Amino acid sequence: MTASARRLRTLRGSRVPAFLYGTAWKEERTDALTRMALDAGFSGIDTANQRKHYFEAAVGRAVQGFLSQTKVLRDELFLQSKFTHVRGQDQRLPYDPNAEPGEQVRQSFASSLEHLQTTHLDSYLLHGPSSGGRLTQMDWEVWRALEALADAGQTRFIGISNVSAAQLSELLNGARVRPAFVQNRCYARQAWDSEVRRLCAENDMLYQGFSLLTANRSELASPAFRQLEQRTGRSSAELTFRFASAVGMIPLTGTSSLPHMQLDLASLDFELTREDLRIIENVSSV
Ligand SMILES: NC(=O)c1ccc[n+]([C@@H]2O[C@H](COP(=O)([O-])OP(=O)(O)OC[C@H]3O[C@@H](n4cnc5c(N)ncnc54)[C@H](OP(=O)(O)O)[C@@H]3O)[C@@H](O)[C@H]2O)c1
Repeated sequence: MTASARRLRTLRGSRVPAFLYGTAWKEERTDALTRMALDAGFSGIDTANQRKHYFEAAVGRAVQGFLSQTKVLRDELFLQSKFTHVRGQDQRLPYDPNAEPGEQVRQSFASSLEHLQTTHLDSYLLHGPSSGGRLTQMDWEVWRALEALADAGQTRFIGISNVSAAQLSELLNGARVRPAFVQNRCYARQAWDSEVRRLCAENDMLYQGFSLLTANRSELASPAFRQLEQRTGRSSAELTFRFASAVGMIPLTGTSSLPHMQLDLASLDFELTREDLRIIENVSSV
């Protein structure tokens, strides 16, 4: 496979990026860092209409600056945002909190389009179910609104984040438009979220993994990992992202460093043996 082919994955006949740049927690640096990531070669950008953690309007400024100053077309980029329940927001809400859930989705989505200065999104996620248990009536109303956005072609794909395997199964059973992406925090000690990844593989969905480095600090500092780093000459970040991609994930990075952006993207391009992948897969049990 060529290096450029590795930068893309196929989902339901459509091309999507194999690596996403995440824009959380960047505040006034959001514009410059998003632009740096686009210039470095990221074509997929993850954000959310959740001002508490993301500055979506600044992401939009970076994207529009990039599109107007390069030959890259909007359709060559992948823009993903999220609808966040009131509980995950601060006072800077992108919708009327007294409106019905479906109306909140429509208002939040319209505001995302405005922030990102685009006519459509590539992916729109429910940021997380409203509780840790079974999906609630509110979650279903939100999902139906997401389905309507997909029907209307306002987003190419819909998906869900911060979801358990049980919740995902429930969603798959009741969804009319099935999720295309699942975005989860990925813990090595939970076999790298193997149950949710299995559901993704079985149902033509792609798994997006975040906090791959920050949620797994002790595993990445373990003797097994250290040995692998020494033997391969690759850093723990490169090995982790390479592993994630090799087992079918779309990794996210929110790095603020240009050299790390370049290294993270380049992790798609080198080979690991089956044995090396097995060592990483089992790193929390050694
Ligand atoms: N759906 C959700 O609820 C949710 C929650 C959290 C995050 N996310 C998404 O996921 C994105 C990524 O978030 P994250 O939690 O994975 O954390 P992150 O913000 O990507 O932080 C990763 C850490 O890894 C470091 N790093 C990255 N590449 C490196 C490299 N090659 N070598 C050494 N260090 C490296 C970064 O440091 P440097 O800056 O120094 O490189 C940073 O400290 C977010 O921006 C957001 O878009 C979604």
